[in-house]
Amino acid sequence: MKVMVVGGGGREHAIIKKLKENENVEVIYALPGNGGIAADAECVPVGATDLEGIASFAKENPIDFAVVAPDDPLAMGCVDILQEMGIRCFGPVKDAAIIEASKVFSKNLMKKYGIPTAQYEVFTDMEKALSYLDSAPVPTVVKADGLALGKGVIIAQTREEAKAAVRSMMEEKKFGKSGDQIVIEEFLTGPEVSVLSFTDGKTIVPMVSSQDHKRALDGDQGLNTGGMGTVAPNPYYTDEVAKECMEKIFVPTMNAMNEEGRAFKGCLYFGLMLTQDGPKVIEYNCRFGDPETQVVLPLLESDLLTIMEAVADERLAEAEVKFADKYSCCVVMASGGYPVSYEKGFPMSIGELDENVDVFVAGAKLQDGALVTSGGRVLGVTAVADSLQEAIDDAYANVEKISFEKAFYRHDIGQRALKASEADIK
Ligand code: AMP
Ligand code: GLY
Repeated sequence: MKVMVVGGGGREHAIIKKLKENENVEVIYALPGNGGIAADAECVPVGATDLEGIASFAKENPIDFAVVAPDDPLAMGCVDILQEMGIRCFGPVKDAAIIEASKVFSKNLMKKYGIPTAQYEVFTDMEKALSYLDSAPVPTVVKADGLALGKGVIIAQTREEAKAAVRSMMEEKKFGKSGDQIVIEEFLTGPEVSVLSFTDGKTIVPMVSSQDHKRALDGDQGLNTGGMGTVAPNPYYTDEVAKECMEKIFVPTMNAMNEEGRAFKGCLYFGLMLTQDGPKVIEYNCRFGDPETQVVLPLLESDLLTIMEAVADERLAEAEVKFADKYSCCVVMASGGYPVSYEKGFPMSIGELDENVDVFVAGAKLQDGALVTSGGRVLGVTAVADSLQEAIDDAYANVEKISFEKAFYRHDIGQRALKASEADIK
């Protein structure tokens, strides 16, 4: 089989490595891929949002199956275009990808179908939003409606901060059209859990849970990033919580999308907060999370391509989706200054890594045959082990074997999960 994967980050590297385990796979094309992915796939210099380029590549190079991984091409309708060409795809069509692409859509969906989430108001008029904030409780959360590279969410500690966020989105158009509408919502507290799921619109199968670390610095200090590390499973996500989420959130969301005529097929990501009042949805993503994928897929024992094909053909109920009874930890190595400004072009050296460790490259390119950094998040080092402590220790021991100038990473990935599991929250 000839497989095409759209995207070029650490998540795509993890997907590609897993797809390669299927012996029917002859070739994987990555559009655009990156310097690290080039070791596992044929990289094609077509950007992930260049839908015309993607379609013409698929026309010239017969593809049997396509995986569209990032949010932008999904929201733009990449899957719709490929399906019209007769190509089987893993990923939602545009009408279903809206569950991530519009927070107003997803909040209204949850309200209409009684899916637990934070209380909220939607505003299209800035003055109304500002006057609402005069009496809103703080902290409060201001969200731009559309995709904003994960930066469209502001947790405001004061009303002034909230108003500044509203102005930056609606007046200064910091996120362009994404800020034409905004959501102002209740600030929730509790441990966060990410649950990715496979769904074909008829069946929904949650994957092993995980925990992201979004802030740049140790102790959850510093700015929000695309994610500095992950662990799986997430100890807060007990069997009891999982059951409640399945009944009150996962199945109702799948059904709600069907009811709306927007059947979702692909990976549906639930960003959850476990509040005193039970689990609530913080966000939906219409795709695999990054860097959640880098800890979830290494634990998948079943064949990924077989599952993805089953999703595309709406026979997920028949597929085996089995995860190892193990733990994984991914530590992201970034370039100094990320997420604000950082230098690129540093040569990287990767020593011999342990057998239970994998490197997923996010931001590197090949220059004269050698890997050099080309992004803020450069790579993720994932270790799989029998205990969370070992997974963490092994990931960090192998991070030590990788070097590039100005490399930085968090030193406390997994520590909160470790404390939670020691305290026997299970
Ligand atoms: P998002 O981009 O929607 O994932 O939001 C980024 C982060 O903001 C989440 O991972 C949460 O940590 C935080 N967040 C979003 N919404 C809320 C909320 N209603 N209450 C508390 N924290 C929130
Ligand atoms: N790690 C969160 C995301 O992929 O959006």
